[in-house]
Amino acid sequence: MRHAEITGWGKCVPPAVMTNDDLATFVDTSDEWIRTRSGIERRHYSHVTTCEMARVAAEHALAAAGRTAEDLDLIVFGSTTPDEIIPNTASKLKNQLGASNAAAFDLNAACASFLYGLSVATDMVRAGTARTALVIGAERASWLMDWTRRESAVLFGDAAGAVVVEAAEGETGLVASRLGCVPDTRHTLHMPNWGHGFDRFTDNRVHLSLRFEGREIFRHAVRAMTEACQDVLRAGGRTEGDVDLFVPHQANMRILNLVADKLGIPSDRVMVCIQEYGNTSAASIPVALCDALEAGRVKPEALVLTTVFGAGLVWGAGLIRWGSRVEPLSRSDAELPPCDKSALEIMGPSIEYYLGSLPKPLRGRGTPK
Ligand code: ACO
Repeated sequence: MRHAEITGWGKCVPPAVMTNDDLATFVDTSDEWIRTRSGIERRHYSHVTTCEMARVAAEHALAAAGRTAEDLDLIVFGSTTPDEIIPNTASKLKNQLGASNAAAFDLNAACASFLYGLSVATDMVRAGTARTALVIGAERASWLMDWTRRESAVLFGDAAGAVVVEAAEGETGLVASRLGCVPDTRHTLHMPNWGHGFDRFTDNRVHLSLRFEGREIFRHAVRAMTEACQDVLRAGGRTEGDVDLFVPHQANMRILNLVADKLGIPSDRVMVCIQEYGNTSAASIPVALCDALEAGRVKPEALVLTTVFGAGLVWGAGLIRWGSRVEPLSRSDAELPPCDKSALEIMGPSIEYYLGSLPKPLRGRGTPK
């Protein structure tokens, strides 16, 4: 049977950092609350678009796989914050990379977009529809933040991650996956006033705002991710004890610890990087995978269990048999254009829009251009 090995990986984290203390200068919150309730210490906010971050992550993934963009015959762009919807952002990335032979489409499964995309790409490679695919998870969540809503505004960050998936012999890559969606829970995490949610002929100011029922999401997330992991282990003929590394969606430290505890996976086999990035939604899993590889925590032929959860409420779990290579074949020097602003300055116009004034550290300096 043909398989689909992950042969390349790359990430892009924008340089501007927003600490919890920075947030507390304009949101009614504190470093102590954010750390103890979510495990987040800082997050990165992007000065460029989602696609620009995805391009850098993709260049690194291609170099790691020893491939060029022309080798790609498929690009799956997982995001809820793509640069454009018509045409899709996958085609923008395709042009930027010079991936002239690739089919390209966007995929939105919220925070689960990367795993959904990996699952689709894996099946296409297995079926012979594609040979070499690029799967992206990229998000500029800061663009969506409503600073009057402290329950969600403190949780998210921006980043992009990418993997290259190639046809291979031998049991490797995403060897089992389970994807689903909890019935009747769409209202717990949604954004009214988007798409057909507002009347574009009469409403001249579209007020985007993420509506969030944190406790409900928390409850469903723990249950769905735990069950998805148990299902996928069963489907793959494995047990929790066989898992070398658990890479859960980095939404909340308490959620991921609870899921690991319920599965009986000890903390030294759990990948945690939420303190540095916050919840980067679709980018969360590929960025965590890259960090795990950089830290030497993914060994050759390791069994990696991953699980995700997001708006919908969608869920998923995947069992990945890593290949023999855990070092990149080569390295790319791709990077973002320089950023001369702080995270507070980047968000200045958005903060002024929602709160009607600039945060204290920026006052008297005018809206950052
Ligand atoms: N700072 C200070 N206080 C806050 C903040 C904040 N940022 N946010 C909420 N509070 C307050 C609340 O107002 C409440 O106050 P009250 O007791 O006086 O009413 C108190 O803190 C407790 O609120 P809870 O909502 O019960 O807090 P909880 O411990 O559940 O933590 C959190 C909230 C962090 C949102 C948690 O529920 C969570 O992480 N849920 C999952 C959310 C998530 O990950 N969503 C992403 C899904 S993926 C996607 O696709 C986007």
